[in-house]
Amino acid sequence: MCGIVGYVGDKNAQDFLVSGLKRLEYRGYDSAGVVTFDNSGKATLVKAKGKIADLGTKLVSERREDKVGIGHTRWATHGEPSEVNAHPHHVGNIYLVHNGIIENYKELKNALSNYEFKSETDSEVLAALIDSFYKEGKYPLTNAVVQALKLVQGTYGIAVMSDKNPNEIVVARAGSPLVIGVGHGETLIASDASALLGHTKQAIYLNDGEVATVTAGSVEIKTLNAEPVSAKVEEIETNLAAIQKDGYEHFLLKEIMEQPKSLKETLRGRVDTRHGMVHLGGPGLPESELRKIKHLVIVGCGTAYNAGLLASYYIEQFTPEITVEVVVASEYRYRQAYIPKDSLALIVSQSGETADTLACLREIKKQGIRTVGIVNAIGSTIAREVDGGTYVHVGPEISVASTKAFTSQVIAMVMMGLTIAQAKGVRSSFLKPYIEEIASLPEEIRKILEEWNEPVRALADKYKEYDHAIYLGRDTAYPTAMEGALKLKEISYIDANAYAFGELKHGPLALVDDRFFEFALLPDGQLYDKAVSNVQEVLARGGHIIAVTNKKEFDLEVENVVKISTSAKLFAPLLMNLIAQLFAYYMAVAKGYNVDQPRNLAKSVTVE
Ligand code: F6R
Repeated sequence: MCGIVGYVGDKNAQDFLVSGLKRLEYRGYDSAGVVTFDNSGKATLVKAKGKIADLGTKLVSERREDKVGIGHTRWATHGEPSEVNAHPHHVGNIYLVHNGIIENYKELKNALSNYEFKSETDSEVLAALIDSFYKEGKYPLTNAVVQALKLVQGTYGIAVMSDKNPNEIVVARAGSPLVIGVGHGETLIASDASALLGHTKQAIYLNDGEVATVTAGSVEIKTLNAEPVSAKVEEIETNLAAIQKDGYEHFLLKEIMEQPKSLKETLRGRVDTRHGMVHLGGPGLPESELRKIKHLVIVGCGTAYNAGLLASYYIEQFTPEITVEVVVASEYRYRQAYIPKDSLALIVSQSGETADTLACLREIKKQGIRTVGIVNAIGSTIAREVDGGTYVHVGPEISVASTKAFTSQVIAMVMMGLTIAQAKGVRSSFLKPYIEEIASLPEEIRKILEEWNEPVRALADKYKEYDHAIYLGRDTAYPTAMEGALKLKEISYIDANAYAFGELKHGPLALVDDRFFEFALLPDGQLYDKAVSNVQEVLARGGHIIAVTNKKEFDLEVENVVKISTSAKLFAPLLMNLIAQLFAYYMAVAKGYNVDQPRNLAKSVTVE
């Protein structure tokens, strides 16, 4: 989603702003802009529709040696992508960049009738509101920002400057992340710590309801109620290598291929095959509390939801005494759902910033239910607000489509389930096969990716002209089919939907014709024969089937078979998902699409 950067120090501000925005490109955007100031307050404001490269081209003739400024990448919410709607917005003496949504902007706009608005954005209204307080002259910039924010409903991460005092930047957040990088003689601002790498590793993560006044050598933080906050400087854990392509053509392929390593990081120190035990420190619950859990609520969006659904099938298998409910965050936040007191909520999010997931977390906490985060981004809002947490530790996921995070989210949640099962006294001989198989997965993943990367590329080439796909699975292969379909539609824009095999006859079977192909997941196991019967039904109606299976004696006459060989049984569907990931990737490549930044989408969905 939108990105914010800011710089005040002794180096060229335009250089940092542009390179910082480039780092945030992966989040998705459609226009960009920067403003810098010289010592006298003379502003150079440059905006461009399109890519950062377009902004860079414009900046060639607007090159300045200014040492302070702010910049933004915009992902359109109010008003189309255009130069005039791009940030920074300039109103009176104020320059502002904003992530989030000002919900009451219409009302505020009506009250600001002495201003003429150039754009269609809610952000320009906020700039005008700040200017109106600033103009009254009673307030220094920080106070004008605070007065304005007290009238605002909605979410924001903002950076604000005034041309009257161009050596300070005021930043504030409510529901949209902001991090302040503390350097030597310079202070940097970003909506995502990755923009700061290479400049500083020291960062202050702003909390909701806080406002900071930032100069080259100081950071002063207060709450909106003017209470001073002592800044906590933390070390940024990511490194530069983790956010580079490492020789791959796309981040997506790099991230798919990284999964043996990233899953190993998820498992590090947590799986003890010798004693058949899982050790998860993060949830912070003593055994006596774990034993009392009767109900799990798993909350997530998109891929995180699919991961939760897949994990729930496993958790139900080995923790007989608990029920598991998996919910879509954007729906759940507005439902009047009763959560029993002996519940534990797992809040699943790669970015740790997804607005709907965060809103659910807050609602669930209000009900007094304990929350545990299954999060990747260290220091993110969800990671900081949950009662306890298990980081998945897959490193930065840059490509918009989530891949390595999915695999590790599933396993992290299964480990959470195993931790509960252990505490409840489920026999270790019953849990051991899960634990042993989990430990073997990084190597199984490595083998499958190595063997199937090239063949799946060729397979995708054969199917690239199709506009419709049906993904099918039963039991644990069903959530896997959902994730496969999501990946395909997301990056190759093919209309792909997933169905449980058993649902076919209840409607979707009517779709089968030459415009569709079917991606059938057929793990060996007790429901294999039933799934095969369903495949026969599709075949009988002229279906174009790609079967993915680990069944050794697979003899169905389908169009194409991907027969993976693996010692894993329980988690075979998770391995089949690797094939679905590669397939979606190569379909998008074959169609010539922007694989890492699919149209209309953003990496981190910080608005509702
Ligand atoms: C799909 C995808 C999205 C995210 C969803 C939740 O590939 O990336 O569906 O999974 O937006 O994001 P997080 O996990 O950051 O909360």
